[in-house]
Amino acid sequence: MSFIDGQAGVLEYRGYPIEDLSAHSTFEEVAWLLLYGELPSSAELEAFEADLARLRVPSPTLVKMVQAFPVTGHPMQALQASLAALGMVSPKVDLRDAASKDEAARRVIAVTPVLVALFERVRAGKEYVAPRADLSTAANFLWCLDGEEPAEIASKTLDCALILHAEHTMNASTFACRVVASTENDPYTSCSGAVGALFGPLHGGANERVLNQLSTIDGVDAVEGWYEAKAESKSKVMGFGHRVYKTKDPRAKNLQVLAVKLFDELGSTPKYDVALKLEEVVTAKLGGRGIYPNVDFFSGLVYEKLGLNTDVFTPIFAMARVAGYCAHWLEQHEDNKLFRPAQIYVGQRERSYAPMSER
Ligand code: ACO
Repeated sequence: MSFIDGQAGVLEYRGYPIEDLSAHSTFEEVAWLLLYGELPSSAELEAFEADLARLRVPSPTLVKMVQAFPVTGHPMQALQASLAALGMVSPKVDLRDAASKDEAARRVIAVTPVLVALFERVRAGKEYVAPRADLSTAANFLWCLDGEEPAEIASKTLDCALILHAEHTMNASTFACRVVASTENDPYTSCSGAVGALFGPLHGGANERVLNQLSTIDGVDAVEGWYEAKAESKSKVMGFGHRVYKTKDPRAKNLQVLAVKLFDELGSTPKYDVALKLEEVVTAKLGGRGIYPNVDFFSGLVYEKLGLNTDVFTPIFAMARVAGYCAHWLEQHEDNKLFRPAQIYVGQRERSYAPMSER
């Protein structure tokens, strides 16, 4: 589905470099590419977009369920629960029927941004805003958040960010998705499991922590001292390092370009200067060990400029990544085998049971 060269910093979806996709494509086109392996024709894309518009509208029962969630919950917890709830109100998926599988995968991709936006409104004590058939996935998310027509630059920037987050080989959450799928589960349960894996700070949860981290650094001059204190306490710097990339993550490079374009249009933020200095300091100290900015380093700066809450950054990652999860879910069901990793047992064997009085 995708290819990474961790030394050269290359990422391709189905053979297409992400630089080309983010410059020329749309999230919907990329979702199709991931699901079906080829770029769509204009007729295919039109029909796909119409399908997404139809499937984007959550049922009234699902809206009521999300509205009943405790507002003390993290938006990722709400999303994990929302996707499980989506399975409760959707037609049963027939894993032997291609049309049934396609519809279920498309429903997850279409409705996830609406569910994320809905919980944001619940937290703000606001009413549900229904999605519109004439808006893209990215524009609909912004519309459902604010109930206002989003600016072109905001929709376009978010659309690019969604493309850059849509798929990334066998990362922890995609692996979780495939494990759940392999027990012959539908995409609602599989994606709900994957979102749980994405939530953690070592994976998708790093993006909100990057912004919190930048907020605690008192300007560019404080960066070196801040880093020394981190290194002293052996704490990790969020937004740096990757299991596969040993150079700057190509998604970070693209998100940085996106951030700069946005700042040109809407004005910069002092946090960007702090981020640049932090990249310089961390790279000088840890670059030799292959530790460079990852995808989460610049995304938060983009989302903050779009006026989004810090703890909704990871759900935005998720609403893009469900395209990848669903493509993997389809692939898993082309020739399913139950995941059951072997283990090496190193404990004791054949012990005699001791009654409680003798322990
Ligand atoms: N800051 C400081 N040191 C680091 C960092 C970092 N961000 N990342 C790795 N290191 C150091 C570790 O402390 C360790 O040092 P040691 O050998 O002296 O003990 C060494 O590099 C190896 O670290 P691991 O965590 O074992 O390496 P791994 O390949 O598992 O790292 C990971 C990948 C988990 C992403 C790590 O770099 C990290 O925790 N980064 C911070 C969290 C983050 O930004 N996560 C988002 C990743 S992108 C994504 O999932 C969407």
